[in-house]
Amino acid sequence: MAFEKNILCIGAGYVGGPTMAVIAAKCPQYKVVVVDVDKEKIRAWNSDNLPIYEPGLHELVKKTRNKNLFFSTENEKGIRESEIIFVSVNTPTKTFGQGAGKAADLQYWEKTAREILAYSNSSKIVVEKSTLPVRTASAMERILNENSKAIHFEVVSNPEFLAEGAAIQDLENPDRVLIGSRETPDGIAARKTIVEIYVHWVPRERIIESNVWSSELSKLTANAFLAQRISSINSISALCEKTEADIGEVAHAIGMDSRIGPKFLEASVGFGGSCFKKDILNLVYICESYGLEKVARYWEAVVEINEWQQSRFIQNMLTNMFNTVAGKKIALFGFAFKANTGDTRESPAIYVAQGLLAEQAEVVITDPEALKNARKDLKGFKKGLTFEPNPYNAVKGSHAIAVLTEWDVYRELDYKRIFKSMVQPAFIFDGRNILDRKKLFDIGFNVFSIGKAPLKHF
Ligand code: UDX
Ligand code: UDX
Repeated sequence: MAFEKNILCIGAGYVGGPTMAVIAAKCPQYKVVVVDVDKEKIRAWNSDNLPIYEPGLHELVKKTRNKNLFFSTENEKGIRESEIIFVSVNTPTKTFGQGAGKAADLQYWEKTAREILAYSNSSKIVVEKSTLPVRTASAMERILNENSKAIHFEVVSNPEFLAEGAAIQDLENPDRVLIGSRETPDGIAARKTIVEIYVHWVPRERIIESNVWSSELSKLTANAFLAQRISSINSISALCEKTEADIGEVAHAIGMDSRIGPKFLEASVGFGGSCFKKDILNLVYICESYGLEKVARYWEAVVEINEWQQSRFIQNMLTNMFNTVAGKKIALFGFAFKANTGDTRESPAIYVAQGLLAEQAEVVITDPEALKNARKDLKGFKKGLTFEPNPYNAVKGSHAIAVLTEWDVYRELDYKRIFKSMVQPAFIFDGRNILDRKKLFDIGFNVFSIGKAPLKHF
């Protein structure tokens, strides 16, 4: 069967995989191929054990795989046969040279652009899915279009706004889809071609078109604003703990103001994930490079508050457990950076585990999906660290529990049973404010939440 369009995606990660699965499911008349340099990952995408966990993803992949969705390592064939190429390779923070620790490392993007150029013998639309610094499209266009093959590449920006754990839902029912291009006739035509894909399931009024720079910058700005809300509420949580105000009540009261809105106001042990910190630091770097020092410092503070919130959490544990955790068993409930994912990138749990291990605590980590990644993240630590899938086993003989991920399973545990199996006095530090603190206190726990007065029996 001949397909109407041939789409390729380079990079089969958290973004590329789910995005292409949804496009394939919504557009059976298109052929969608996803390639990756990582052979193991492609093998996993072709198996029953997908490389990432997302609710609903497995069903979609099963429905479309080897019909109009294909996972492969054959980049050359994929590039040659496609008219539209999405690029969602990773763009981590640079760890070396100029801009180290802040700027985006674009080496994989540039390598991918050169690979596209080398294997192409017809004109193509190249779509930026990865988050990139504003004006990257211009560099990419220069690399792609300085060729002697008489072919032309149009670079379009179509940033991804999906949140992990809700990726399929966000892709199927997005608040908006943003597509930016050059405002030349060729640029606008390329933009329309990408719009055509999304109109299969996204209402037309939710598909926004813009110039390519606005699109690139909107992605960084959206993440910066979201992270800023969390740092804002977390900064106020510290003040609540000093004043007996309750952060839940404050968030509720301000969130009822329709100008502020109720979402993203949950105080926590801090935000994690692969995007927020990386994108803000990237924004900071861009501002610095344009001489906008004040703007750079403003956004940098969002990351600083997040780091402070994480260290405050550890400090609070130490102070309340009589200034020492050495030799004490502590169970960490959750290691993923948020619920419903196995992803642990930039998870506050990494920082908390490392802090407690540095204090010579005996750390036991439990998580329904993230233990494999947790082992990798903490592979440098041999002493005092264990992993246990069952939370009841994890807490046996422990002095304290720290809730670090808001998994539903932790809300529903039998805390009476847990209390009896712990060393007394027993402590709970709820870094996600998901537990019924009054009930826990009545059972006998000393309860410490974020942004609320502690409930102590001594
Ligand atoms: C990626 C980007 O990291 C991020 O900047 C953007 O916001 C969204 O897309 P993600 O999908 O989470 O995020 O990254 P990851 O899961 O690491 O996937 C990237 C994939 O690209 C990896 O599987 C990697 O093997 C692959 N890759 C990388 C290539 O196929 N070729 C390369 O040259 C480099
Ligand atoms: C984020 C953006 O939401 C998404 O649009 C973008 O494409 C990628 O980055 P993601 O990192 O997957 O998505 O998760 P998100 O739900 O935004 O949560 C990020 C972190 O903030 C998590 O650690 C979460 O626990 C934390 N968070 C979120 C809070 O601490 N409080 C809140 O109120 C909301």
